[in-house]
Amino acid sequence: MNSLVQDAAAAGARVGLKSDEIVIRGGKPLIGRIEVRGAKNLATKAMVAALLGDTPSILRDVPDISDVNVVRGLLSIHGVRITDPARGEMILDPSNVESAHFAEIDAHAGSSRIPILFCGPLLHRLGEAFIPDLGGCRIGDRPIDFHLDALRAFGAVVDKNYNGIHLTAPNGLKGAEIELPYPSVGATEQVLLTAVLAEGVTELRNAAIEPEIMDLIAILQKMGAIVNVEPNRVIFIEGVKSLRGYTHRAINDRNEAASWAAAALATKGDIFVEGAKQQDLMTFLNVFRKVGGEFDVHEDGIRFYHPGGELKPVVIETDVHPGFMTDWQQPLVVALTQAHGVSIVHETVYENRFQFTEALNDMGAQIVVHKDGLKGAERRVARREFEQAAVITGPTPLHGADIRVPDLRGGFSHLIAALTAEGESKISNVGIIARGYEHFVAKLRKLGADFDFAG
Ligand code: EPU
Repeated sequence: MNSLVQDAAAAGARVGLKSDEIVIRGGKPLIGRIEVRGAKNLATKAMVAALLGDTPSILRDVPDISDVNVVRGLLSIHGVRITDPARGEMILDPSNVESAHFAEIDAHAGSSRIPILFCGPLLHRLGEAFIPDLGGCRIGDRPIDFHLDALRAFGAVVDKNYNGIHLTAPNGLKGAEIELPYPSVGATEQVLLTAVLAEGVTELRNAAIEPEIMDLIAILQKMGAIVNVEPNRVIFIEGVKSLRGYTHRAINDRNEAASWAAAALATKGDIFVEGAKQQDLMTFLNVFRKVGGEFDVHEDGIRFYHPGGELKPVVIETDVHPGFMTDWQQPLVVALTQAHGVSIVHETVYENRFQFTEALNDMGAQIVVHKDGLKGAERRVARREFEQAAVITGPTPLHGADIRVPDLRGGFSHLIAALTAEGESKISNVGIIARGYEHFVAKLRKLGADFDFAG
C-alpha cells in the first residue's frame, strides 16, 4: 500500500468509515438541508491553544472529523485529559502537561500539519518540544521555514533531524519583531500561540487575517491574552505571565459550506446549509452569483441553488483572506465545467492544487492546467513564482469513471463530479474526505444521493 492509500484508510477509519471506496450513480440533483459545525481550520488550533491555559478549556461545535482525532491523540499523549460531555463539546484539561515518548509522537508522523503548532505551547509548558514529520494534503511543498524562523526569533533553538524537529528554549521565549514573507495562516497562528506567553511585546507584520485566525485571537483574549489587530496586517501581542482556560463555540466551517454550495450548483440542486454565515463567505457568494448560482441568506444558514438557465464562465484568482480562498477553488471547478464558455482559475497559494482535474478530464471535462501559470494578459497578478492556472472550457457533459481522491478538497470535488455525471463512478481513497468533511456520507444520503460503499 502506498502512503496516500494508507493515510486515506486511516483517516476514514478514525471516523468509522468502513470502506475506502464509494460507488456513485450520478445525474440527480442534491436537494435538502444539512448542517455545518465548527471549522476544521479553527477547532484543531483551538484545541492546541488549550495547552496554554492553567485551567480546563471548553470547546463547542467540535466537528467529528479525523483531523480533530489526530490532534486529540497528540494532546492526550502530552498529558491533556480530554472528555466529551455532550455532542460536539470537548473539555480539555491541561493541568498535567508532560513530555511524550518519542514512539508515541512518531506514531502521529505524517497524519496532519497541526503538530507544528504545538511548538510554542510546549516550549512554554515544558521547555522543549519534539514535532514529528508533518502530513496534510499533498498540494505543494508546504515548507515550514516561516514557522521555524519565527520560533528562532522568539529565542527557540531548532534542531532538525530525520525523525522530526527538536526544539528547546534555553533562555526562555522573548517577544520579537517578525515580518512574514507571505501572510501564511499557519505561521500567523504559530506566532500568536507563542507570543501570548513570551516575555515582552511581539510585533507581527504581514499576518494572515482569515476569519479562523480572528476566532483564535478571540479565544486567546478569553484566556487573558492581549492581542491587538492593527491596520495593514500588523498584529501586536503583549506577553502575559499566565493564561486561563476558555469557553468557546468554534466558528462554523465556511469551506465546507462553500463545498456544499458548489455541489448544489453543479448538480442543479438546492441545498440549505445550516450554519453557513454570509459574512465569512462574501467573496465566495459574489463568484457564486456571477457563475449563475442563487442564494438566500437566512438567520440560521444559507440556501444555495441552481435557479435554472445557463451557468456563466468566470476568471478567478485564489488569494489570502479577504480574497477567494484556495480551498473553494476545487469544488467550484466542477460547476465551471458546466458553464457556457471559458473559465480561468489562477491558483496563487499552492504549487500543486490542480491534480484533481485529471479525474475530471477522465469524466469528460475539458480542463488544461498551465503549470507555470498563464503568460500575457490573462495572467493577472504575477505574485508568486509558482502560480498556476487551469483553463476550463464548458459546458461538457460528465460521465462516470473510476477515480482516485488526491487530497481533501480535490476529493470533495470528485464526489461532486460523480454526482453530476451520468452513469456510475467508483471513487477510491474517500477516507481522505473524512479528514475535513463531517459525516459526509450521512449528509449525501440526506440530500438524496444514490451511492453504495464498495467491498
Ligand atoms: N508557506 C511557506 N513556508 C511556511 C508556511 C507556508 O512557504 O513556513 C507557504 C505554503 O507552502 C503555501 C502558502 O505559504 O504555499 C500558504 O500556506 P499557509 O501557511 O497559509 O497554509 P497552512 O496554514 O498550511 C491553512 C489551512 C489550509 C488552507 C491554507 C490557506 C489548516 C490546517 N490548513 O494551511 O487548509 O488552504 O491555510 O488558507 O488550517 C484545507 O482545509 O483543505 C487546507 C489545505
